[in-house]
Amino acid sequence: MTYRLAIMISGRGSNMIALADYALQEDVDADIAVVIADKPAAGLDVAKARGIPVQLIDRQDYATRQDHEAAIMNLIDSLDVDGVFLAGYMRVLSAEFCQHFNHRLFNIHPSLLPRHKGLDTHQRALDSGDKTHGCSVHLVTAELDDGPVLIQREVEVLDADDADRLAARVLTQEHIIYPMVLGALASGLLNVSNGDIEMNIGVLPGVIPNAPAPINWPH
Ligand code: GAR
Repeated sequence: MTYRLAIMISGRGSNMIALADYALQEDVDADIAVVIADKPAAGLDVAKARGIPVQLIDRQDYATRQDHEAAIMNLIDSLDVDGVFLAGYMRVLSAEFCQHFNHRLFNIHPSLLPRHKGLDTHQRALDSGDKTHGCSVHLVTAELDDGPVLIQREVEVLDADDADRLAARVLTQEHIIYPMVLGALASGLLNVSNGDIEMNIGVLPGVIPNAPAPINWPH
């Protein structure tokens, strides 16, 4: 059965595009039901240009976080999706929201969790003198950037790095591992529906359909 996902963004949406480019391949059984943004985001136009349904649910139009999240939840519930992928969604979600989508809510985070939860991860990796840095895809729980990690990719921190250079190399890896998680879910290789991670997909790139190659961004 086709794996249906919603993607939530706040900005340029390069991870969303990596997911979309992967899902749009013929032999990948996944369908993007909607891309949602919490503010006018460049990524919405990019998604629209690819024929993906988009919805701006602007935080400014809602009096409270609860009302805003309720609007997002109602939309996603009406679309009968299997998973919700946070892709550069920059708001902290309430425990209620996380619970509502329990075991169906995924996030990509630009660090090797549990190191560097929160913001400014690249600068913090440099400031800490880390020799390696990277990115993680994890299940979302009510605790910020704390849910079970599904897959990580490392990059070496180079002497010449500043935060932007490091971020760019990490982003290239993000564009590989997030589609990989989607591929594992869509092909049934990964099942997290009861909260147990039945397989560490870090070992699977060879068997996920069309395991994604690095995508150059912008493109
Ligand atoms: C990505 O690096 C993503 O990992 C990060 O924001 C960037 C979004 O870029 N997410 C977080 O920091 C979440 N706390 P994108 O809009 O091009 O995908």
